Amino acid sequence: MKKPFHKPAFRLLGLCAALAFSAAHAATEMPRIVAKDGRHALMVDGAPYLILGGQAHNSSNYPAALPKVWAALKDIHANTLEIPVAWEQIEPREGTFDFSYVDTLVREARKNDMRLVLLWFGTWKNTGAAYTPEWVKFDNARFPRMIDKDGKTSYSHSPHGEATLTADKKAFVALMEHIKRIDADKKTIIMVQVENEVGTYGVARDYGARAESAFRQPVPAAVLARQKPPASHPTSGTWSDVYGEYADQYFHTWAIASYIEEIAKAGRAVYDLPMFVNNALRDPAGVQPGEQAAPWKKDFASGGPTHDVLGIWRAAAPHIAFAGPDIYMPESNKVDAILRQFQRPDNALMVPEMGNAAQYARYVYQIIGKGALGVAPFGIDYAEYSNYPLGSKFTDKRMVEPFARIYGVFAPLQRQWAQWAFEGRTYGVSEGDDRAAQHVEMDGWKATLSFREFQFGEREYLRDKNEYMAGTEQPSGGVAIAQTGPNEFVLVGQQIRVKLSGTGANAGKPAMFARVEEGHFDARGNWVMERNWNGDQTDYGLNLPATPTVLKVRMGTY
Ligand code: DGJ
Repeated sequence: MKKPFHKPAFRLLGLCAALAFSAAHAATEMPRIVAKDGRHALMVDGAPYLILGGQAHNSSNYPAALPKVWAALKDIHANTLEIPVAWEQIEPREGTFDFSYVDTLVREARKNDMRLVLLWFGTWKNTGAAYTPEWVKFDNARFPRMIDKDGKTSYSHSPHGEATLTADKKAFVALMEHIKRIDADKKTIIMVQVENEVGTYGVARDYGARAESAFRQPVPAAVLARQKPPASHPTSGTWSDVYGEYADQYFHTWAIASYIEEIAKAGRAVYDLPMFVNNALRDPAGVQPGEQAAPWKKDFASGGPTHDVLGIWRAAAPHIAFAGPDIYMPESNKVDAILRQFQRPDNALMVPEMGNAAQYARYVYQIIGKGALGVAPFGIDYAEYSNYPLGSKFTDKRMVEPFARIYGVFAPLQRQWAQWAFEGRTYGVSEGDDRAAQHVEMDGWKATLSFREFQFGEREYLRDKNEYMAGTEQPSGGVAIAQTGPNEFVLVGQQIRVKLSGTGANAGKPAMFARVEEGHFDARGNWVMERNWNGDQTDYGLNLPATPTVLKVRMGTY
């Protein structure tokens, strides 16, 4: 249920923005994730927080690399940096910890007025052992890797390795103890990702002795309650009985999720920050939320928190708040499917990684508009490294620019936006690869969004029907809309035409714009009107230019 409209939607703004911009992070409350009516908010300093994030490159987790990270984060107008803390760097020798990097990171984050999401690169980083210390990497007897069906050793550590779990957990708890020591007063660190893109490529599960015996046990009741068996299968029994051709993937998922649960639970017992996992996606392939996806066929990392097994993750890892999709599929229909699959009443939507190529920038509107906790393009970092073709070819300002323009307009209203999103007032659309018009149903109003329009007139007025606005050769449009009152809206968007028509109580009534103020939110979050759009600027809908534009719109009927 949506919060009923109340007049002073903007009154909160000054207060929230003041909180958001308190450079000292004078925090009292622990960050936490709250849920209401199927929606979620990340609470930071006691109010909903929108992560306008950027993730550093993998090897920027050293003090010497940080200046290039801060520079890019500043340029993009981010409020949060996601950055690794590696097991190999904090415990290079067993039992000897070095947190000097973490100390520098937190100190510099505060200086740069940036919050932090730490990424724990432990047993698994992109499914492999690259970030484990050498005393773990090369000791297969003590820290076993998975065994495949033919008895061959896999590259990836087994989630059934008790000693590995104990050692990883010990290091992670030491990290959380250290964070508590240095950050409990300011709470610069707001979340922790546990491991990175877990699962295993090429092997469905571990076939070692311990795994085999666990595989023959009955499926735990918590899993049965959340992960439906395929049609005509028994609803209890062993993994094979219940899940048939899905059994190997589901069992491996349960094993990895249970391993991560142990680590997250121990870490949160020390210092209770929200914790999450990220996912190297399987192809969303038009599978609707709740529909059975095809069984694993070596086509993605088995055991990871892919959309089809979020039920198992929820059952096995209650100390993990959500699984977030790492979006490196630029196709708009895939992005749309991914966002639907990962936004569930039992899984908050947050995009911990996304390609940093320009074509991804428009998705920020859709993600933020859908009420996500936040988004972070990957590689927001001026290290001379580009992860093209996953991301941008550029490693300088040209890389951050498409995102910076959008973050720049959201930055002053970030707290208010997060509040509106939590109240269910926000909507988001990005231009599809098909360039087709889209519709958004709101309360009493429908928005019709179209693309590649000229700012004046309708398409049928054109002599050449194939003539399009210059600069619209590639899809780049998007809009995020907050309905702030029965007839009031805040629109943030670019390269899009927005038309509003009455529905519900307003259906069939002639309507017109009462007021279309273009302006911006100042650093304290107050609305500053610059001009009122009327005449040619509203006769053919609201035609937002290539520059991200903020409009405060009031509709009326007669
Ligand atoms: C996803 C991983 O989570 C990141 O750490 C990084 O490897 C990117 N892929 C690609 O560069």
